[in-house]
Amino acid sequence: MDMVKMFHMNGGIGDESYSSNSGLQRAGIMKTQGSIEEAISELYKNNPSCTKTIIMADLGCSVGPNTLLVSSIVINAVAKTSLELGLKSPEVQINLNDLPTNDFNTIFTSLPEHQENSTNDHLPLCYFTGVPGSFFNRLFPSKTINFIHSSYGLHWLSKRPELEEINKGSIYLSRTTPESVSRAYYQQFQKDFLGFLKCRSEELVGGGRMILTLLGRTNDDSRDEESYYVWRPLAMALQEMVSEGLVDEEKFDSFNIPLYTPSTNEIKNLVETQGFFRIDRLEHFYVYMETLKTDKFDEAYEDEGIVRALAKSMRAASESLVANHFGEAILDNVFTRYAKRYAKILSCNKEKGRYVSVTVSLIKKE
Ligand SMILES: C[S@@+](CC[C@H](N)C(=O)[O-])C[C@H]1O[C@@H](n2cnc3c(N)ncnc32)[C@H](O)[C@@H]1O
Repeated sequence: MDMVKMFHMNGGIGDESYSSNSGLQRAGIMKTQGSIEEAISELYKNNPSCTKTIIMADLGCSVGPNTLLVSSIVINAVAKTSLELGLKSPEVQINLNDLPTNDFNTIFTSLPEHQENSTNDHLPLCYFTGVPGSFFNRLFPSKTINFIHSSYGLHWLSKRPELEEINKGSIYLSRTTPESVSRAYYQQFQKDFLGFLKCRSEELVGGGRMILTLLGRTNDDSRDEESYYVWRPLAMALQEMVSEGLVDEEKFDSFNIPLYTPSTNEIKNLVETQGFFRIDRLEHFYVYMETLKTDKFDEAYEDEGIVRALAKSMRAASESLVANHFGEAILDNVFTRYAKRYAKILSCNKEKGRYVSVTVSLIKKE
C-alpha cells in the first residue's frame, strides 16, 4: 500500500469532506496556540533575518478551516510582535504541504477571501505556496525555513509495516496484538520520525523553530487502547460485517491502520537520538468529543449528535484507506455501524469520549 498515492482526507467542502468535519483537530490546534505564538515571537526577536522575511511551512496541512487557522495564528503573532518591537511587519511566506492527492484547489480558491478579510493594518504581507509531496522526504532547499508546523499528520506512517503475524480481530495496536506486530509498528514509526527530523534539520535555519502535534499516548505501553478508542468502533463494525458475510475474513485480517500514537517519552528519546534539535516544550493533552457539540443539537439527543459527528469526522479522515482495502461499496454501511458502536461504548464509559494528543516544540541547534 503506497500512502503517497492513495491516502487523503475527503476533499471539497461538502457534508462528508474533511473541511466540514475537522472540529476535533481544530480543538487540538487551539490548545497549542500559545506555543505557536511563543515560538513565533522568540523566533522574530532572536533572528535578525526574521525582521524582514519569515518563511514558514505547514506540513500535512490538508484542506479546510484548519489549514488557514494555523496560518492566521502565525500571521497574528507576527503582527503582535511587530507592534511590541515598534517595527514594520516582515513579509511572510507560507508553504502549504500535503500529499499530492490532497485537495489543494479547495485551499487555493479560499485564499483570496481569507486575505481580503483582514482588517488589521499591521498584518504582514503573505505569500502562499502549495508544496505537494511526502514530508518524509526533503521538501525545501537547505537552510531556508524559519518555522515549521505540523498537526495531526505525523502519526500516519509512510506505509503499513511488514507484519510476521496476523493482528487477529483488531485493526490497531490493542491488548490482543502480538508483540511482533507492535514492535514492527514502533520500528516503522521510529524510521519515519527520525527521517522526518533529519529532513527538517536540513531545511530549517539555525535557531529555526518547529511545533509538531500528533495523536499520542499518556503512557509507554503501545498496546494501551487509550489512544485507539476512536478506532475500536471501526474494528467492531468490520467484524460484525465479517460475521454477516458482508466482508471477507481474510481481507479484515490484513487490514491494519498505518498509524502509531507515540508517548512523550518515545518522542523525547527519538529527538535526543537524532541530536539536531533542542526540546523547548513537550506535553500531552486531551481533546474531548464534546467539542463536536453544536447549537444545532437538540439537548436531549446531544450524545447522539456527537456520535454522528464523530462518525463523519472518522469517515472524512479514513475513507480513502477503507475504500482502498475493501472497496467503496461498504462505506455507508460501515460508518453507520461505526456510529451505533461508538454510541454504545460512550454510554458505558464517558472516558472514552476523548483522545490524547502529544505536542512538542523544538529549536534547531545552531
Ligand atoms: C488529519 S489531517 C490533519 C490536517 C491539519 N493539519 C489539521 O490539523 O487539521 C492529516 C493530514 O496529513 C497528511 N499526511 C499524512 N501523511 C503525510 C505525508 N507523508 N506527507 C505529507 N502529508 C501527509 C494527510 O494527507 C492529511 O491531509
